[in-house]
Formats: sequence, structure tokens, C-alpha cells
Amino acid sequence: MVDQVFPIEKIRSCFPSLERTIGGRQAVFFDGPGGSQVPTSVTEAMSDYLLSSNANTGMSFETSLETDELISEALHSCADFIGCDEPTEIVFGQNMTSLNFQLAGALSRTWRPGDEVVVTRLDHDGNVGPWSLAAEWSGATLRKIEIRPEDCTLDMESAYETITERTVLVAVGAASNLSGTVNDVRKIIEIAHGVGAEVVVDAVHYAPHSLIDVADLGCDFLLCSPYKFFGPHQGILWGRKSRLEELPVAKLRVASEEIPFRWMTGTQSHEGMAGTMAAIEHIAWLGREVSGNPELSRRESLIRAYDAIEEYERGLFLRMLEGLEGIEGLKIWGITEPNRISERAPTVSFTHPSMSAKEIGQRLAERGVFVWAGNFYALELTEALGLEPEGVLRAGLLHYNSLEEVDFFIDSVKEILE
Ligand SMILES: Cc1ncc(COP(=O)(O)O)c(C=O)c1O
Repeated sequence: MVDQVFPIEKIRSCFPSLERTIGGRQAVFFDGPGGSQVPTSVTEAMSDYLLSSNANTGMSFETSLETDELISEALHSCADFIGCDEPTEIVFGQNMTSLNFQLAGALSRTWRPGDEVVVTRLDHDGNVGPWSLAAEWSGATLRKIEIRPEDCTLDMESAYETITERTVLVAVGAASNLSGTVNDVRKIIEIAHGVGAEVVVDAVHYAPHSLIDVADLGCDFLLCSPYKFFGPHQGILWGRKSRLEELPVAKLRVASEEIPFRWMTGTQSHEGMAGTMAAIEHIAWLGREVSGNPELSRRESLIRAYDAIEEYERGLFLRMLEGLEGIEGLKIWGITEPNRISERAPTVSFTHPSMSAKEIGQRLAERGVFVWAGNFYALELTEALGLEPEGVLRAGLLHYNSLEEVDFFIDSVKEILE
């Protein structure tokens, strides 16, 4: 059940956009998988930077020094968020996709024909497309891990078959942005490392729901996007220090050879870094709230926050699943068993034979419920499930959603479909 001590009203009051009304009632933001809302603290941090410290880096006047300091603080903050000790292992970029293209470009220059690159049919195209091109550029072969359509999980037999002595890289998602499936990434890493291959983890959909811990996972690279966890539009890449130092990344002659800066092309969004830091601080604040301990370190606060977020979101999500399962003809694409709730994120995708996903989405929008219809770039999955071109209706929960919103959503879907 939903944890009574979860400070949902306090959380909601941090997000002014949640006050928005449609037709006289508060809008329901279930569009989080496409991008979350932001707390006031994030916009304040961004505008404070722009209004008082805005400058380029590396000079000895005040605002430039403040900008250098901000970058350093942001790297430390993200290191705590990702669970690594080395702030220089954090790279900022425009978004996950751009950073993954950059990583793919660098890695592809180290591969040769005969090498194999493995992606999955459960992944967002942001973790498929760059690897498909990188394989093409280097003459390597692209291979795909299949899914089990009955519950939208990775087919582990296929993983064992696909990852071989020739594999140089496996790209896998931590959680699917369509079915919500949380993959057994540890197992994939074990198989990949067993044959000497590196592993890139796409944690974009995972990051708002569960704690990232690269030290514990043992992956080689990991990406996420702050705009999915209450921050601004930015991307984060984490990579092992030794690899970030040696990989032949595309960079200007005049740019620094130091990590992470050799990866950070051109002038970065410093205001984005300020906002990302504030988003991480928002989650840490929640950890201190639920633990009642204001002394916790940032990492400890994040651990406590994610424990609370997982428990709260699961309570809400079980109610959502139960409600949707009660609607005749509605097909949920993914895990539905309540006892397997820990194997999925609180993101649900469904179809109904009587109405297209787009139309269901439009009717929900008229009622002030914000959801998505389509494939959300999880193209491999919608193709494997035979769901193109219409796709699915997707609703996703975040820590600022409430039980009342879930109930209103279920009642609305029933009204529309029954
Ligand atoms: C699972 C997943 N991976 C990758 C991406 C791409 O992220 P970005 O928009 O930061 O490039 C998304 C965006 O929706 C996503 O959900």
C-alpha cells in the first residue's frame, strides 16, 4: 500500500505546473516518460545562474570563476547521483541521444570487421540507432537480443546466443520507456564481461524511479537525462575514467584533453548544469524528509529518497494496473502480475480493439489527462509486437502523482472505452 508518511502534498507544492487546470479541474500529468515537470528550485537555480553568474569558462573575472565553480559542483552532484567516486567520469551533453552518438563514434573507431555489436529489441532507438550506425562505420556486425512478447521482457536465451566471443559491445536499457520492463542488467553485464565485451546502459527511463549505482552495477558506460528526473533538458554520460581518457572522441584541437572536458564539445549549458544540480537536490531533499534526518550526505539522502519513491509509486501503480485490467478488451503490453511489480517501472502501455491509441489519448486530453500515444521511439519493440503504425497508449507515474489522479484516470479510460 501507499506509504502514509510519503509527503505527497509537500512534493506537489514544489511543482507549480501541477496547479494547471483544464475545464475547471487540475490537469493530470501522466506524461512523465516523455519528460517530467520541474520544481521551482530548478527554475530558480537556472535563472539565478543566468542573471548573476552567466559567463564562459576559464578566465579570472568573477562570473567566469563562478561558472567554473558551478561546473565543478555539478560534476560532483552528478557523481553522487550516478554512484561513482570520480566527478571527472561525468560528461554533460545536450541529451542522451547526442551523447550516445558521440560515444558510438568514439568506440566505432576502435572496432573492425568481424567484431559484433549487440542491441536489444526492448530498447529506445536512442540506444539502438547510434550502435547500428557505429557498426556500419566500422564494418562490425549488428546483432539483436529478442524479447518474450508475452510479458515484454528480454529473452535471456537469445541473450546467451547473441553475445559471443566476437562481441565488443552490448547496449541495453535499464528500463523500457514503453512496457516499463526493468531488465536484469546485472546478468547482461555478467554475460558480456564474460566474453570481454563492454556494456552501455541506457538509464533514461530508470532514473526518475530507482537509484542508479554504477559501482554496484559494474557497467562500462551509462546515460541518463535530467529532464526525465525533474531537471532541465540535458544529458549525462558516465564512463570509466580510463576509457574516457583514451577513446578517440571527436574534439577540436584547441579543446582541453582533460576528462571530462575532452568529451564536452563547444560551450555547454551552464544553466542546465545549475538546474540538474537543483533537480538532484530536490530528490535528496525528499530523502532527508522521509528519513527525518537532515544530516544525511547527498548520496545517503538519494538512497532514502529512491526507497520511498519506489514504495510510493508501486502503491499507486498497483491500483492503476488493477483498474486497467478490469476494463474488458484492454490489453496491457508488459508485466501485469502484482507479485512481479519490482520487475517493472510504473509506466503502462495498452491498446484496445475498439479505439486507436491516438484517439484514446485525444479523449483523455479533453478531460485534462496528459498521456502519450505512439511508439515513443521504442520502434524495435512496437515492430516486434506487431503494433506499428498505431502504437500504444502510454501513461507513466512519477513521485508527484497522486492516488486521486490514478482513480480519475481509470474512471476516464472506462468512460471512453466502455
Ligand atoms: C529509455 C529512453 N532512452 C533514451 C531516450 C532518449 O533520451 P534523450 O531525449 O535525452 O535523447 C529516451 C527518451 O524518451 C528514453 O525514454
